[in-house]
Amino acid sequence: MVDNGVRADWTYGTYLRLDELLALQGDDRGVSNDELHFIVVHQTFELWFKQVVRELCEIRGSLGNSEVPEEAIPSCVHGMRRVTEIFRLMESQWSVMETLTPQGFLAFRDDLGTASGFESYQMRELEIILGLTKSMRGTNFDPLEQFRKIAERDPTQTHALDRLTEASQKPSLLDAVMSWVRRTPIMGSRQEDPGDDERITKYVEAHLFAYSEHSLNQQRSISESGNMNPEMLDARMESARSQARDFLLPNGKVDRARAGLLFIESYRELPLLTWPRALVDAVVELEESMVKWRHAHARMVERIIGRRVGTGGSSGVDYLDGTAKYRIFTDLWAVRTVLVRPDLRPELENPEFYGFSQGS
Ligand code: HEM
Repeated sequence: MVDNGVRADWTYGTYLRLDELLALQGDDRGVSNDELHFIVVHQTFELWFKQVVRELCEIRGSLGNSEVPEEAIPSCVHGMRRVTEIFRLMESQWSVMETLTPQGFLAFRDDLGTASGFESYQMRELEIILGLTKSMRGTNFDPLEQFRKIAERDPTQTHALDRLTEASQKPSLLDAVMSWVRRTPIMGSRQEDPGDDERITKYVEAHLFAYSEHSLNQQRSISESGNMNPEMLDARMESARSQARDFLLPNGKVDRARAGLLFIESYRELPLLTWPRALVDAVVELEESMVKWRHAHARMVERIIGRRVGTGGSSGVDYLDGTAKYRIFTDLWAVRTVLVRPDLRPELENPEFYGFSQGS
């Protein structure tokens, strides 16, 4: 044995510590096939959560620096894509869980007591790292409070509370992504350049003008089709135009992070925006994969326990459907609503800054 634990005489079993791993599924208490399967599926998810937490911590650390070296972005994108694939895999794993029949589950469900996935501290940790807050949940649920109570009841779980406390004291991935997009050079103007604020305001106003034109054109064609009550249509389109303005100019002032997102999404073809665009896409894909995973969990639960109350005491399926509505990276989603057709975009200023020559 050498210092770092690497052993020259490793076998497959000793390297993976298989004997220890395979002794953790309840064979000692004679679990049924159904219960073994229930435990294996949960443990598999928890192993994936472990990898997800590790990847997200690293990405948050790299992106959270005030100076993000360019070479750090590809590895953040790579990490996010891995996390996305893990969630996609876990989404498809619910179908294995669904081989458990309602009766098969009822046979051992009471033995679980109040134990529930609701108490998965790795799940709570990854939510905190991503930046999920109480207001995004839309409830009063506070994971730190939950784990404080769990640790009081069972002091062996104090480490979970410590992990969550530590995670919540650091800036989240949401904070890191937003401060990174805030620094995007827009129309060739960098945040620290003199007159940046005026230039970004001018760009956003020009975009909003284009958005208005786009929206009025759409309104005219819907109106001509005669499919909709004209007053209703006018109110809906007017409200969309005013929401676009509020999003890009909250309280009448430019929000540089949102303007950065708008610029990245609007001028996606610019060579210098290749990695920013890949990063934004990777974040959206990651969140989408989590939402789909949450949705699929709810469908699996509906199939197995119907509308029963969960072992954790929640309303069950209704509660889980509510979790599928969470959105963390709200601005990355919202910017899609205010985009315009490429030919209507404000003309690009300083194209050479983005590796584009005039006329190319
Ligand atoms: C028969 C299988 C399952 C059923 C019937 C089920 C049911 C439920 C229910 C009803 C809840 C809401 C909380 C409560 O009141 O208990 C919940 C939450 C949760 N379950 Fe499952 N579950 C199953 C399998 C799994 C598996 C395999 C995992 C993988 C780790 C999992 C992870 C979670 C997580 C993380 C939550 C918390 C969700 C949140 O609060 O955002 N569940 N589950």
